Amino acid sequence: MKTVAQTIGGEAVTTRLAGKMEDSFQAFAVRAACFIGELDVPFSEEFDGHDFSATHIIAYIGDEPVGTVRLRWFQSFAMPERLAVIQRFRGHNIGNLLLERCRSLAESRGCNMLYAQVLPRDTGYWEKLGWRRLVADAPGATKQIVAMVKAVDPSKPLPEAEAPEVVVLRRDAQPDAAGMPGRTASN
Ligand SMILES: CC(C)(COP(=O)(O)OP(=O)(O)OC[C@H]1O[C@@H](n2cnc3c(N)ncnc32)[C@H](O)[C@@H]1OP(=O)(O)O)[C@@H](O)C(=O)NCCC(=O)NCCS
Repeated sequence: MKTVAQTIGGEAVTTRLAGKMEDSFQAFAVRAACFIGELDVPFSEEFDGHDFSATHIIAYIGDEPVGTVRLRWFQSFAMPERLAVIQRFRGHNIGNLLLERCRSLAESRGCNMLYAQVLPRDTGYWEKLGWRRLVADAPGATKQIVAMVKAVDPSKPLPEAEAPEVVVLRRDAQPDAAGMPGRTASN
């Protein structure tokens, strides 16, 4: 379903869930431009196996894909990742629209909480959008990743986090010697 959110220069800004392979390619193109091209993230880190199971959300100005985020699903929370807006289209609230689409989608699927892992330099952005740190930083802490959460329904208190870091950071199954997927606890 397409959601019309606002207009920029007379063109509608919309968000849409990827339904076809072509939609996913649009999401990947935006991420390649932002993360690999702009932020020097290696290809091998940017694209992982979770892209096959995640829900991809794409923002468009007219027909042009300009932003994306992927949403991964866990038992008690949903996890937005890889939020990116093409540089020249930033500052128009598109990042916020994508995260709001994550929130409403999570709500429609009965999820209570959104959970994200964010670089320290980006925490201000997420805090401005109503996210809070899951654990307050100890003075002098030099963590590479900050865990942040947001209630799906702001009128309801945030549920006790069921250790999302343990769930999210669980190692993926490695292929065995025959190249078959190994066994691991599933999410
Ligand atoms: C983060 C990002 C998605 C925001 O996209 P956007 O559509 O411009 O975001 P919005 O228009 O909703 O919000 C823009 C506001 O956030 C601020 N902002 C952007 N990045 C920020 C950051 N890292 N820390 C604090 N504030 C930030 C902008 O200054 C702007 O503030 P203003 O409204 O007071 O002028 C975009 O900057 C981006 O793609 N960055 C590169 C990819 C990246 O680092 N992704 C990691 C996720 S944060």
